[in-house]
Formats: sequence, structure tokens, C-alpha cells
Amino acid sequence: MPFKDILAFKPWSLKSMTLRNRIVMAPMTRRKAAEDGIATDEIRQYYERRAQGEVGLIISEGTGIDGVHSFDTATVPRFETPEQHAAWKRVVDSVHEAGGAFAPQLWHCGRLASNPIGPCDDQLSDRPDGTPRPKIRGMNSDDFKQVLNAYISAATASIEMGCDALEIHGAHGYLLDSFLSPSNNTREDEYGGSLENRMRFPLEVVRAVREAVGPDFPVIYRFSQWKVDDYKELKFQNSSELSQWVLALRDAGVDILHVSTRDANDVAFEDEDPKKTLAGWSRDLSLLPVIAVGKVSVTLPMDKAYGEVKDTVADPWPKLKLLEDEEADLIAVGRALIANPNWVQTVRDGHWQDLTSFDKSLLADLH
Ligand SMILES: Cc1cc2nc3c(=O)[nH]c(=O)nc-3n(C[C@H](O)[C@H](O)[C@H](O)COP(=O)(O)O)c2cc1C
Repeated sequence: MPFKDILAFKPWSLKSMTLRNRIVMAPMTRRKAAEDGIATDEIRQYYERRAQGEVGLIISEGTGIDGVHSFDTATVPRFETPEQHAAWKRVVDSVHEAGGAFAPQLWHCGRLASNPIGPCDDQLSDRPDGTPRPKIRGMNSDDFKQVLNAYISAATASIEMGCDALEIHGAHGYLLDSFLSPSNNTREDEYGGSLENRMRFPLEVVRAVREAVGPDFPVIYRFSQWKVDDYKELKFQNSSELSQWVLALRDAGVDILHVSTRDANDVAFEDEDPKKTLAGWSRDLSLLPVIAVGKVSVTLPMDKAYGEVKDTVADPWPKLKLLEDEEADLIAVGRALIANPNWVQTVRDGHWQDLTSFDKSLLADLH
């Protein structure tokens, strides 16, 4: 079947959001905002180019929800003040003018922030260059309130500025994910211990966001098995644990699950099913639409992407086929969209071999 006829390039809609195709730009931190967390005009143009390249839904790079604990570098854009909102609004307007849809990724770095908080007091080992990392402070009841309020304000701002959806970053070892992780969360109160307790704070965030945005605005939740400081961690040992989590997300008000895997074709629980991916399991168990992600049209896995080995372009079909196989509803493209703002047009028109391969040097500029 020619690429132009596959599901990936057909429109899709949910609640108030309509997408011209099912290709999503994966959230990718660029750390190129102004020091006051304001998304610059260069950032606006970077997203505008992907919208002009016909991406269906653009999910922003992680944008910090507050000015105290949420970010790891001053040049991470933020989503807190009227000036920061105005800058994002210019991005949203440009994406809309080019026919795209836009969702900010609301990010709290938690344990990995420059001023870190987390489920418990903790100390990460020194950075590779030998400099010590700041001590992580375990969250108290004031912190819980402050973080919830920051999510509520950011969610309200997303609606006010005309975003099409929002994504809660609950993946990769950052704040919400660290609550789920038994190794990061050793609290002895109702927020730690059993899976039910470890899910409690992320679910409180989802419920607060849902209440802030009302029933018709799509809320996406991104989660992962892996985290940046431990690629091998498995939060869900089997489908029954995963089921508990995805059903709880659905009940709390999530509309779309963004299942962050490093390779979208990876099998999730081999002993239970020799083929099914984490996206496929999440979709079947929750009956929610799912975004799959990981290694679309790239060859190197994430942990090798910044090394000396050069990447080469791969056939995107094995990933795009996940939509035909009903393992996912939308597919997110990460590194390949940094290298190819017109990825959608190139692949849809049958020319994936002409894509530019991803190279870490592309991260130096916003092109
Ligand atoms: C430069 C870069 C920055 C990233 N920043 C984020 C981020 O801010 N939030 C997030 O959830 N994932 C982030 N990721 C992960 C991507 O969203 C995506 O899941 C990952 O790159 C796998 O997709 P790919 O193989 O198509 O690149 C980042 C990845 C890259 C390459």
C-alpha cells in the first residue's frame, strides 16, 4: 500500500481536537529559551516549520510549570508567567496558521531539577564531570499544594491561549514518574509503598488538571517504563500492574496515553504475549487512544544517539504499521523530525530514503 493511503496520514479527532493526520511531534527539550523561561521567536519558527511540514499534532518540548523547582536549566522554557504564556501563544498561533495542532508538555523535573524536590530526601551521585548534584528534598504538604497549583495554572493557561490539548509529562524519572518508581519513592505515608499509594500523587495531578480544563479538552498523559537515570527500570512487571495504572489514569480523566518506549516495536511482556507492544497493551487494557513512539525512521537507540556512531535512515513502515495493527492510534516522531521538518510530506509522498539522518550536531541550533 502506498504511504499516502495508510492510516498514519488520515485525519483523526477526539473531543475538541481535530488532526489532519496521525503524526505527532514528540516532545523534545531544546534548552534554548531566554534565561527568564520565555520561548523566543526562534523557538516559534522552529515549531512553525514543523507545522508547515504538515505534522498533525505538535507536542512542545518539556515546559516547566513553575519558576522554583520544575526545571533543570534556566534556558528550559516555562509556562508560568503572563510573559511566558504570551510567548507560547505566539507559537500556538503560528502552528494554527500552518494548519497544525499544538499541545504543551507540562514538565516538572522533580528529582532531576536544578533545585530538586522528590518523593523523599535523596542524593544522586556526582555528575560525569565530577561536580556534585544538589540534595533532593522530600516533598511536604506545602510542596504538594504548590505543585498541584502550578499544574492547575498551567492547564488553565493552555486553554486560554487556544492550545488543542495538553500533555502531562509523567515519564522518564521526573517528578510524577519518581512517585511511581519503587526505587525513588520510599515514603511511608499514603503516597508511598503499594502501587496504589505510589500512583496517588500523579492521579491527583490528573484530576486537578481535568477539573481545570473541563470535560472537552483532550488531556494526554505520557508515561514510561524507563527513566533517564535508569534505562532498565521496569515500573510495571506485568500486564496486571499496567492495567491498574492505565485504568486509574482513565478514571482520573486522561483521554490519550502517550506510551514512551525507546523502540515502538519492542515487546512489552514477552512471557504473556510474544508480539504485543507497551502501547498495544495500554490501548487494550484502557480502551483509550494511544500514542506510540520510539525509533521511527532512525536506526540508533536513544542511548547511542549522542555518541560517535552516525545514524542512518530506516524505513518508517514497521512503526507506522502499528496503527494498521491496532496497537496505537497516533505515532510520535522525535529525532527524525529534528532532522527533517518536512518529514510528513517526504514520507507520505513515498520518499523516506531521501530523509536526512539524525545527528547530535543538529541539536546545536534550532533549524
Ligand atoms: C533532544 C531530545 C530531547 C527530548 N526531550 C524530551 C522532553 O522534553 N520530554 C519528553 O517526554 N521526552 C523527551 N525526549 C524523548 C522523545 O520525546 C522521544 O520519546 C524519543 O526521542 C524517542 O523518539 P525517537 O526515537 O523518534 O527520537 C527527548 C528526546 C530527544 C532526542
